[in-house]
Amino acid sequence: MKYILITGGAGFVGSNFIEYLFKGFKDYYIINLDKLTYAGNLKNLERMNKGRYNFFKGDIKDFGIVDKIFSKYPVDSIVNFAAESHVDRSLKKPQVFLETNVIGVQNLLDVALKNWKSNLRDKKFIQVSTDEVYGDRQGCEPADESTILNPSSPYSASKVGGEMLVKAYGRSYSLPYNIVRSSNNYGPKQHKEKLIPLIIERIMSKNKVPIYGDGKQKRDWIFVEDNCRGIMKILEEGKDREIYNLGTEKLTENIDIFKIIFKELKEKIEIEGNYKDSIEFVEDRLGHDREYRLNCDKIKRELGWKPAVKLEEGLEKTVEWYLKNTEY
Ligand SMILES: NC(=O)c1ccc[n+]([C@@H]2O[C@H](COP(=O)([O-])OP(=O)(O)OC[C@H]3O[C@@H](n4cnc5c(N)ncnc54)[C@H](O)[C@@H]3O)[C@@H](O)[C@H]2O)c1
Repeated sequence: MKYILITGGAGFVGSNFIEYLFKGFKDYYIINLDKLTYAGNLKNLERMNKGRYNFFKGDIKDFGIVDKIFSKYPVDSIVNFAAESHVDRSLKKPQVFLETNVIGVQNLLDVALKNWKSNLRDKKFIQVSTDEVYGDRQGCEPADESTILNPSSPYSASKVGGEMLVKAYGRSYSLPYNIVRSSNNYGPKQHKEKLIPLIIERIMSKNKVPIYGDGKQKRDWIFVEDNCRGIMKILEEGKDREIYNLGTEKLTENIDIFKIIFKELKEKIEIEGNYKDSIEFVEDRLGHDREYRLNCDKIKRELGWKPAVKLEEGLEKTVEWYLKNTEY
């Protein structure tokens, strides 16, 4: 049995990752450490069977609890999803982003090093990062893993900080790691503060959807299951101390995401009027990046990963899921 510590596993991507791992990888015992902030929800994991899974409520900044997990289980790998993740919140209250996304990472690295340093073989620390670390790519080539980092928000700056610590522990202490720079995820169980669930919730409750600026910001949307499959591939086959971009390399404007969801919902539930009646353009976010663009050649070439779910298909699944799970 391999023992994997997943942090932030009660959040959107983390809980999807746990389900993916639990279903398809029977040789893993999963330990989930989550502080259960406003973004963490144990309901996301209610289908978990206790057999190969245990949950600890706690903060990744707390050396004691992380070390306790290591003394209870022979942890082989850590996948760090735990983060403050919402850009708008980071613009209002950046400190907690630095605390979790930087100091929290340092604490996890310290505990890993303490427990692994006598034998680093077959150990791995996966830091889940974001395409936002490259900053705005409008008018630029797609960013590959060597592109200079140029974050625009306190959120993305804090994710850069976390990555830099991971790299430094790799170089100074030979800690085995991979950094994954994923694009925008969507799918079941995402918190409704994020664009896609927000659009669905507002249309269903017959309220207008606030769209920032002109709505023409472009994002690379990846279905969460494709992202989880990529992270797992990197965990198992990624070359030590390498960084991998993980996205679809297809860009869609926010306004087009809105139109696709509106059309999907209109086919399934009663909605009056056309899509224009459901939109309200609002003042743009401070420093809002126009475009994220990833070059994902490396993960395709080295690990043979590629996305499987097309945007329309993924959005259809997502809409269906939210219609069935209205408490979200
Ligand atoms: N969602 C995306 O589109 C996306 C894209 C690229 C990268 N990422 C990265 O993936 C990771 C997960 O993102 P998400 O969308 O699932 O986030 P989320 O906000 O839905 O979940 C974060 C989880 O971390 C937990 N958490 C927060 N602070 C903690 C702390 N100090 N200690 C322990 N647990 C804590 C929360 O309770 C929550 O369960 C993040 O690191 C994020 O930067 C997300």
